[in-house]
Amino acid sequence: MRIIKCKDYDDMSRKAANLLSAQVTVKSDSVLGLATGTTPIGCYQELIRRYQDGDLDFAAVKSINLDEYRGLTGDHVQSYRYFMNNQLFNHVNIDKANTFVPDGMCKDAEAECREYDQRIQELGIDMQLLGLGHNGHIGFNEPDKVFEKETHCVDLAASTIEANSRLFAEGEEVPKQAYTMGIGGIMQAKKILVLVSGEAKADILKAVCTGPITPEVPASILQLHNDVTIIADEAAASKLNL
Ligand code: GLP
Repeated sequence: MRIIKCKDYDDMSRKAANLLSAQVTVKSDSVLGLATGTTPIGCYQELIRRYQDGDLDFAAVKSINLDEYRGLTGDHVQSYRYFMNNQLFNHVNIDKANTFVPDGMCKDAEAECREYDQRIQELGIDMQLLGLGHNGHIGFNEPDKVFEKETHCVDLAASTIEANSRLFAEGEEVPKQAYTMGIGGIMQAKKILVLVSGEAKADILKAVCTGPITPEVPASILQLHNDVTIIADEAAASKLNL
């Protein structure tokens, strides 16, 4: 694991955008694995700026997202499809037909998951962007007794529902289930980029990087990947002995 410590959130976002930009510049038809959450928003803004400046071209890029809430349509403001359109896709020249997010409204969950895995296999992810949940989850792979390899429907942990409720309107129910790429899908990406910001993630980041590899801390599996870069701001990296 390569750990890049940066000053603050903006610095983290710029450095992440540097690596993603380099990826797309070197390989214009890159397949990017993309993430939601508040952490990557600054990075997406930076990518949009670079596209507007003429420094980045997404025309041949394909993307595949980590996860989606079960039961939300793509035009629901809290759906991850809506998030991606709003935070990135609507502002750059990516072809939306080349952007993939699990279908939260699919009728046949099992078939949707198998198709998603097939797509991951076919596309092959060049660079996977990840955030980190407070309990060590990646995508929506929650702490568990085993690592789930494949795309699956997951019951969200109470702490995740609570953490994500801040993003929903008052009184609006936070979905209790989601579809997520499995650990196998994430680990087959050629390169993985993890963004971590804020003091509240310092303990879990330490466990991820230096603790035992255990499904109780899903992101700890990343210790076994041979090309992981963690970009953490000072607050998040404060418990790491770098
Ligand atoms: C959600 C997403 C994750 C994300 C995590 C952290 O649960 N499914 O992909 O990494 O939240 O979110 P934030 O970046 O807002 O802390």
